[in-house]
Amino acid sequence: MNYKVPFVNYQLQYQNLKKEIDKAIRGVLSQGDLILRSDVEKFENNIASFLGVKFAVGVNSCTDALYLSLRAAGIGQHDDEVITVAHTPFPTVEAIVHCGAKPILVDVGEDFNMDITEFEKAITPKTKAIIPVHLNGRMCNMEGLMEIAKSHNLIVIEDAAQALGAAFNGKKAGSFGLTGNFSFYPAKILGGFGDGGLVVTNDQDIAETIRILRDHGQKTKTEIIYYGVNSRLDNLQAAILNVKLKYLPQWIQKRREIANLYYQGFSSLISIEAIKLPPRSDKRFFDVYQNYILRVPKRDALFQFLKEKEVETLIKDPIPLHQQIVLGLSGFHLPYTEQLAKEIISLPLYPELTNEQIEYVISCIREFYAP
Ligand SMILES: Cc1ncc(COP(=O)(O)O)c(C=O)c1O
Repeated sequence: MNYKVPFVNYQLQYQNLKKEIDKAIRGVLSQGDLILRSDVEKFENNIASFLGVKFAVGVNSCTDALYLSLRAAGIGQHDDEVITVAHTPFPTVEAIVHCGAKPILVDVGEDFNMDITEFEKAITPKTKAIIPVHLNGRMCNMEGLMEIAKSHNLIVIEDAAQALGAAFNGKKAGSFGLTGNFSFYPAKILGGFGDGGLVVTNDQDIAETIRILRDHGQKTKTEIIYYGVNSRLDNLQAAILNVKLKYLPQWIQKRREIANLYYQGFSSLISIEAIKLPPRSDKRFFDVYQNYILRVPKRDALFQFLKEKEVETLIKDPIPLHQQIVLGLSGFHLPYTEQLAKEIISLPLYPELTNEQIEYVISCIREFYAP
């Protein structure tokens, strides 16, 4: 179906950067620089300095980044428990299970992020780590969270897949924990033309371990020291990401402007219907709006209405994670997460949206709730 307002528009971003991207791709192909070559190293250095961290290691997805972070931190032995939220995409939990640990899922708060009180309640003598997920481009309250983690001697592995460039008290997502983990899936704020991921850290040993683990556990060409994986950030993707990284600050700025237009456009609806808008940036939270999520009544009807109006939206995770059969967590109850699964809808938000498209989305939603 051809939408007036598609949920993503990969082609348009490519068209806008075509000259630079084509040049980067031609450079890589003509030199035959395909695996772990200089573009990967250049990208790792560039993004480490953007995030204000010492080390960055390119891998092939955020799922792998999380898995390798947990492994490098020594998680996964003797029934280790790792606390995270149920209101997150499945990869967060998948990484915990793949490294041999047990995921402990807790509820979220009004900001869609981990409820810190629930986090503290879930800590047991087996708890080794916590994965805070900075969802939708907004960070968790890292002040309270880091304090609790520190007082219980827990390792913090940040899932910052949706929060590249977001900050809490001026410090960027990914720079608080032992590692920060990012995704370059095409729809992300910084998206490749394929999969990609990143681990960042200030710990030299962890960075080195992850470099070895991502390349089959090879310390040198002849010496293998771990059972690793094949999870190298593709050199071609790194060259493309190097081009796009230059535009990241202006894209974030544009995302924030579009979010502001949505806030203004929907403000009159809050009193008419029980519509809830996402939390707003303030002195502490610098949000980057990976997603603009509305909590609405009649969510499924709104989705259908917008589809008929040729506005593409997304209903994310309509089955809360803790109710996914594969996890075997029957009888588990997380009221807020369950409520969100029924109410949330994600609107198109990317820098290439035109003002006309934004206004059209707003007018359609107004028409639905206040005809
Ligand atoms: C919060 C979160 N964590 C992890 C992932 C996994 O990222 P990737 O697709 O790069 O493996 C995603 C991807 O959507 C995500 O949104």
